[in-house]
Amino acid sequence: MANQPVDAPSLLTNVEWERKPPSIDANLKDYAEACRTFRWEDVEREFDWSRTGKINIVHEAIDRHAAGTRRDKVALYYTDYDTRDERYTFDDLKRHTSKFGHVLKRLGVKRGDRVGIFLPRTPELYVAILGTHRIGAIPVPLFEAFMEQAIQDRLSDSAAIACVTTPALKARIPRPALPALKHLILVGAGGTLAADEVGYEQAMAGAPEWLEPEWLTKDDGLIIHYTSGSTGKSKGALHRQYAMVGHYQTAKWALDLRDEDIYWCTADPGWVTGTSYGIYGPWTLGVSSVVIGGRFDPDRWYQTIQKYRVSMWYSAPTAYRMLMSAGEAIPKPYDLSSLRHICSVGEPLNPEALKWMKKITGLAPHETWWMTETGMQIICNYRSLDFKIGCTGKPFPGTYATVVDDQGKELPPFELGNLVVKPGWPSMMKAIWNNPAKFDEYFRIPGWYVSGDTAMKDADGYLWYQGRADDVIKTAGERVGPFEVESALVAHPAVAEAGVIGKPDAVRGQIIKAFIALRKGHEPSDALKQQIAGFVKTNLAAHAAPREIAFVEKVPKTRSGKIMRRVLRAWDRGEPVGDISTMEE
Ligand code: WTA
Repeated sequence: MANQPVDAPSLLTNVEWERKPPSIDANLKDYAEACRTFRWEDVEREFDWSRTGKINIVHEAIDRHAAGTRRDKVALYYTDYDTRDERYTFDDLKRHTSKFGHVLKRLGVKRGDRVGIFLPRTPELYVAILGTHRIGAIPVPLFEAFMEQAIQDRLSDSAAIACVTTPALKARIPRPALPALKHLILVGAGGTLAADEVGYEQAMAGAPEWLEPEWLTKDDGLIIHYTSGSTGKSKGALHRQYAMVGHYQTAKWALDLRDEDIYWCTADPGWVTGTSYGIYGPWTLGVSSVVIGGRFDPDRWYQTIQKYRVSMWYSAPTAYRMLMSAGEAIPKPYDLSSLRHICSVGEPLNPEALKWMKKITGLAPHETWWMTETGMQIICNYRSLDFKIGCTGKPFPGTYATVVDDQGKELPPFELGNLVVKPGWPSMMKAIWNNPAKFDEYFRIPGWYVSGDTAMKDADGYLWYQGRADDVIKTAGERVGPFEVESALVAHPAVAEAGVIGKPDAVRGQIIKAFIALRKGHEPSDALKQQIAGFVKTNLAAHAAPREIAFVEKVPKTRSGKIMRRVLRAWDRGEPVGDISTMEE
């Protein structure tokens, strides 16, 4: 990558600061001091396993609270604003996850086996993930919006032996293509079940209320999150039990969680934020969490803050921008005064959205930068540290993130380069499931984990995210690989070739745009565009369907057949395409 110098003087003079009062009461009191003295080994002492040597996340997140003073504390508040309004204490979750562990054991699911978790956002989703942990098996969360192709890819690659789902979602699981999948556990199935199906409610009713966790080691598997790169199908980032050390400490210092907080992480456990910071971080700290079911709805979001008196809120820039575009009148009737801290993740938070949030809530969302593969927050803004508006932040104490050239040499301030992290933080993925070559690609610059993002550092040591170095798309905060969308597109009978890019969008960050060459005998039309987008929606996922389609004669490719997305992006902007001499023909 060329090291383009960034316009340093304008950055320095135009930047606005969020200054923190010196008296601010934060868990992390002094960032600079923590960078000097903090050691991950010291965090290990917060866990029972540091004394017993017996590790299982379900013990640290649930059982030890249920055995102590937090026994009757609410761990999970849940509503779907329709038929359900429930609360579960740590003791309730201990019993439910024990029962679910028994259900899995009875089916013969063992330590290390993979269990697909394909459920809408309900309490059962959380019970299923933690119950899977209890027996030492590895949950593979599958986002509720995924359709057949996406489900097949993930269940097949992970060779899941069981999958927890609902009768409605079951239709998207292609059983004949999944020989390893032996059992379905169906939530809300009623009476009619096939021979290899188990009714969740019936099985849970008959199961004992206690199951001792399977005791594991630090390196045993915790969870597999499938995520997208710019080439190939989605890949499974495998995390290990030891990751909890990172979840715990970042939830304490970056999210600034405290015992008395009511915490709302809006992410679905189908994505890493929904587990690292929707389950592991808050519950290893013993904090009460709010989960709401159903679709995004601005009115309900503000209502949720009022209803539960949410004090700490973790969401994403697209959500903040959607609240912003819904207008100032919607929050007016609600009492948002319970909020004391807000964080943001997944995409850069533009200053306009940050300032709007501050106007509505009195609080500026603090950025956190991290990835599925890092497992935990790496670059953050902290409650006790002044930050620059629009800036990603500073490395979490005990981690080292910086900007390097392609040879791994650190770059001086204001030079654009690769955003990298020094390996060795506790939550770094352990492997890419079934794919050591893909894992090695992350370490292609010796000595560094290569994020695939570009960034620059300023003279004060703050890191500024600049973009992706590859073709990965972030749409409404969700990570989508262009290859997966292109594969889904070319399966449509009218499509000969397809190339997909992320097109900048004011609300969603990016939207998916597809350039399509049609097969002979098919004519471009708006109706065909809709049909093709609908085809991706029903086969892959709604969030992965192109919002824009352009018909072209040919999709530009290199001689070796690689789609030239650089050319597609230039076409989209109406710019000259530059040197295309490597194109075929
Ligand atoms: C992007 C989400 C700018 C980045 C936890 C990264 C961000 C990718 C930020 C990982 C941020 C995440 N500012 N960009 N604060 N946080 N990203 O795996 O491009 O879904 O590489 O993990 O999101 O996305 P993933």
